[in-house]
Amino acid sequence: MYIDIEYPKDRGEFYKTLRDQLGLYAGEETDETAALANFSSVLSIAFPKANWAGFYLVRNNELVLGPFQGRPAVTRIAYGAGVCGTAWREDRAQVVEDVECFSGHIACDCNTHSEIVIPLRRPDGSTWGVLDMDSVETGYFTDADREGLEECVRLLEKFG
Ligand code: SME
Repeated sequence: MYIDIEYPKDRGEFYKTLRDQLGLYAGEETDETAALANFSSVLSIAFPKANWAGFYLVRNNELVLGPFQGRPAVTRIAYGAGVCGTAWREDRAQVVEDVECFSGHIACDCNTHSEIVIPLRRPDGSTWGVLDMDSVETGYFTDADREGLEECVRLLEKFG
C-alpha cells in the first residue's frame, strides 16, 4: 500500500527520499511495465507542479510512449525530434526552461511551460528510452533536478 510522505525542501534530502520511494515502489520490480508505471506515479506525487511524468522507449529506431501520468500524449517521436528525440540524439539530458523557446518542441498539453528529459541508460551507457517530465511553471526544473533524476533512473538500468 502507498503511504503518503512529506518530501523535504532541501534538494539533497529531497532526492534521497525520492530514491528511497522509487526503490520501494519500483526498484525491486522485475517487470518493466510495472516498474515504469509506479516510477511515473511516484514522480508525479513528488513534483506537484509536474503535469506529465513518464517514459518514451526506443522501439525500432523511434521513441514510443510508455507508462506515464498525465494527459494523453503523442505516441511516437522520431530520432532528433522534439525535446525527447533531441535528448536521444545528443545523448544527454535536456532541461528546457521555457518550451516556447525550444525549436521543435512537441506540444502535448498547452499548460506545459517547462520540461526535463533524461536518457535511460544501459550498463554499457547506450540509451534505451527517456524519462520526460513537464511542468505548468516556467523554469520549474533545474540542473540540480537533472543530476538528481539522472541518479534516480539508474534504478531502471536493469531494464535496458
Ligand atoms: N514535449 C515532448 C513530447 C512529449 S510530451 O511532452 C509528453 C517533446 O518535445 O519531445
